[in-house]
Amino acid sequence: MSSHPARADFDPIPSARRPVSVTVVTSLPSVADAAALAVPVFSGAEPPADLGVDAAHLAVAGFTGAPDQTLVVPGDDGRALVALGIGDGADVGVTLVRDLAASFARAVPQHRTLAVELPESRTAISAGEFAQAVVEGVLLARWRFFVGRGGDEPTLTALTLVAPEAAAEETRAGATRGQVVARAAAISRDLSNCPATTLTAARMGEVALELGPGAGLEVEVFDEDQLIEMGCGGILGVNLGSRDEPRLIKLTYRPASPTGHLGLVGKGVMYDSGGISLKPSDESHAQMKNDMTGAAAILGAMTALQALGCTAAVTAYLCCTDNMPSGSAMKLGDVLRMRNGTTVEVLNTDAEGRLVMADGLCLAVEDGVDAVVDIATLTGACLRTFGVDIAGVMGNDRDLIGRLQEAGEVADEPVWELPLHRPYRAQLESSIADLTNMGGVNAGSITAALFLEEFVDGTPWAHVDIAGTAQQPAVRTWRNKGASGFGAKLLIELATGFSAPEGARA
Ligand code: BES
Ligand code: MN
Ligand code: ZN
Repeated sequence: MSSHPARADFDPIPSARRPVSVTVVTSLPSVADAAALAVPVFSGAEPPADLGVDAAHLAVAGFTGAPDQTLVVPGDDGRALVALGIGDGADVGVTLVRDLAASFARAVPQHRTLAVELPESRTAISAGEFAQAVVEGVLLARWRFFVGRGGDEPTLTALTLVAPEAAAEETRAGATRGQVVARAAAISRDLSNCPATTLTAARMGEVALELGPGAGLEVEVFDEDQLIEMGCGGILGVNLGSRDEPRLIKLTYRPASPTGHLGLVGKGVMYDSGGISLKPSDESHAQMKNDMTGAAAILGAMTALQALGCTAAVTAYLCCTDNMPSGSAMKLGDVLRMRNGTTVEVLNTDAEGRLVMADGLCLAVEDGVDAVVDIATLTGACLRTFGVDIAGVMGNDRDLIGRLQEAGEVADEPVWELPLHRPYRAQLESSIADLTNMGGVNAGSITAALFLEEFVDGTPWAHVDIAGTAQQPAVRTWRNKGASGFGAKLLIELATGFSAPEGARA
């Protein structure tokens, strides 16, 4: 990499090189070296004795044990004790535990060694699920991507869980899962936040080649000449205006006796200027380095599959290029020939996501996958519809959409279905080609999905639109401000629970 100051060589995946040590112990004295200890307190109950403060004294400070209350108590032994309200045990789920763990991590922001005392089982979830959620919450709350002074210093070096003896094994397994999931999500966030001039499509390929082998993945990176051979007119068309070459990254995870074969396709628009249909210089334009969040989420998720014992085979295609205006750029009215022979008249170069995704979907379907899921920051209309909390999902298969919704609930990366209303397909008709890449002014998320459906050849398919969720306006629980990397946790849940669908088409 060059040392040109304007093409600064930042590490695109600092999280991968900054592991946090996570350990499980069964007695409190073993965590004497943690700078802060979280002590969960149920509402209406006496706190554990080691807090050194009783319920009456906590109440003086306004602390009742209601969910998400935190109270930092200076401990006699020189460390911070954090009373952490957990509410009434009955309604404690993984989402709440993850959020509480994040609140703890944020309540003592200066402390780099943390410990959490796990409650005796009074909750509906297992010790393993509890531990996983705690690790995810703490690690993701302490994630950061900062390339300024002090950016190399870790915000967290060690996390210790104190578990009841009987639950130690289960807690250990859950903590390990949490560590793997948090790392995957952190990598996805790193990549989405990395500046576009640093993280080009070629660099993304290098990152995949670096991460793949350690995660049991086969990685193939196809360059421009190979994409020409392969007939990937969508990716090549979008790339025409760029000085940087495109890359198609293929990741393969193949366990010994697969229970199914899942295809994943990610939008990897490293920067979306709009092309000749240039975007206005507003705030959303400045966020367009995150237009590769779909690809980043998949790459992050794929790094976790082997460690989590995923039993399905997964083949992923990341369609990477930036979308730039220049003398060589794709023009309005141009016609592209996609991988499956479909011709597309380009009526707006800013509707580029569906063009790169088309080639990726064709390739996944050619591999004979049981189902294919694509994930893309595809339409501003999805942001308008759902805001920044919820992703959109559309598809041709009820079972697959249902699995995504369940995965979204567990991961707390929710997806909500929009109708794939086929009469709107007429809006994509062109007088000179098979399709145009522009629907009408309304229902933009739906017409974009209908465009993608042209490339799945009847394979069970679902499309996840993360244009809203890929960017977060503020820090909230375990969520960061900025590019969120949304989707890594969702796809991990989907893939690890995947088996060939029953085929109930919508
Ligand atoms: N990457 C954008 C979608 C987007 C917009 C993501 C805002 C996040 C926030 C996509 O490539 C795009 O520009 N879509 C256009 C499509 C239109 C021209 C049909 C849009 O949504 O405006
Ligand atoms: Mn665009
Ligand atoms: Zn885009």
